[in-house]
Amino acid sequence: MTKTIAFANQKGGVGKTTTTVNIARAAITDHGLKVLVVDADPQGNATKVLAPKHQGPLDCSLATVLDKTKSTPMSDTIRVSEWTNLDVVPAGSDDLADVAQSLVTMKAGRESRLKKAIADISDRYDLILIDCPPSLDQLPINAFTAADAIVVVAELGQFALDGLDRLLDTVEIIQEYTNPKLTIAAAIVNGVQNTKRMTHWRSELGSALAQLPTPVPVLDPPVQRATFIAEAQEAGQGLDQWGSTKASVLHQTYVQHLTTILNSIYEGGR
Ligand SMILES: Nc1ncnc2c1ncn2[C@@H]1O[C@H](COP(=O)(O)OP(=O)(O)OP(=O)(O)O)[C@@H](O)[C@H]1O
Ligand SMILES: [Mg+2]
Repeated sequence: MTKTIAFANQKGGVGKTTTTVNIARAAITDHGLKVLVVDADPQGNATKVLAPKHQGPLDCSLATVLDKTKSTPMSDTIRVSEWTNLDVVPAGSDDLADVAQSLVTMKAGRESRLKKAIADISDRYDLILIDCPPSLDQLPINAFTAADAIVVVAELGQFALDGLDRLLDTVEIIQEYTNPKLTIAAAIVNGVQNTKRMTHWRSELGSALAQLPTPVPVLDPPVQRATFIAEAQEAGQGLDQWGSTKASVLHQTYVQHLTTILNSIYEGGR
C-alpha cells in the first residue's frame, strides 16, 4: 500500500528539502521503491534538484492542481526526474504561492485538495514524499491532510525548539478535523556541528518529543553539517553517487532512517 510522508518544519533552511531528496534517493536505490516527490514549496527547491527542466510557472504543476479555477488532474503534472524510478510534481513557483493565498478564502474542502489529487495517482507509487514550505499555511495543511505520517526535520540550537509547539498544535488540529490517522513518525536532526552545546540541545529536543501523548523518536545518528551534502545536491547527484566514503556512509544513514520511518508507519496499522 502506498504511503505518503510530509517533511515539515515551518522554520526555513533547516534541511527539509535536503532530507526529502536524500530519503527519496534511499527509497529508490536500497528500498527498491517507486517514488513520487511532490514539491509543495513555491521556492521549488526539490524541483530544482530533481527535475531542473521544470522550474518556474508551468501549465501543469502543483499550483494548477490546487487552483480551484483549474483543478488540473495530478497525472498531468507528473514529470520524470533525473533518477530512475523517481517522478516529481513540480511546484509551479510563484503561482503556487498565489494559489495558497486563494485557498484561504475557499469555503469548503480547501484542506483536502492535495489529498484528493494524490488519491487519483497513488496506486502508481510505493512512496509519496511531500517537501513542505517553511510555513504553516494551506500548503502544509494540505500536505498533512494527505499524509500518513510527518517527519519533522530539525536543527539543534537555542531557537530550534521555538516553533515546535506551533507545528505540534497544527498537527493536533489536522488529526482532529481532517486526518485522524496522521502520525509523526520521527524527527531527523540535520546540520549538526559536534560541540558540547549540541549534546545539550539534542537532549532538549529528545525530551520535548518524548513527552508527547504519542512519543516521537529522534533518529540517530543526526546528519552532520558538511559541504559535500550541499555540493551533491547542487549537482543533482545522490550521496551514493558522490564517490566519497563519507557520502556513502551518509547515504546508508538515510536508508536506515527510512527503514525506521516505514516501520513506524506500518506498526501504526495503516
Ligand atoms: N547537513 C547539511 N550540510 C551542509 N549543507 C546543508 C545541510 N543540510 C542542508 N544544507 C544546505 O543548506 C541549505 C538549506 O537546506 P534545505 O534547502 O534543505 O532547507 P529547507 O528546510 O528545505 O529550506 P526552506 O525552508 O527554505 O525550504 C541548502 O543550500 C542545503 O544544500
Ligand atoms: Mg525546502
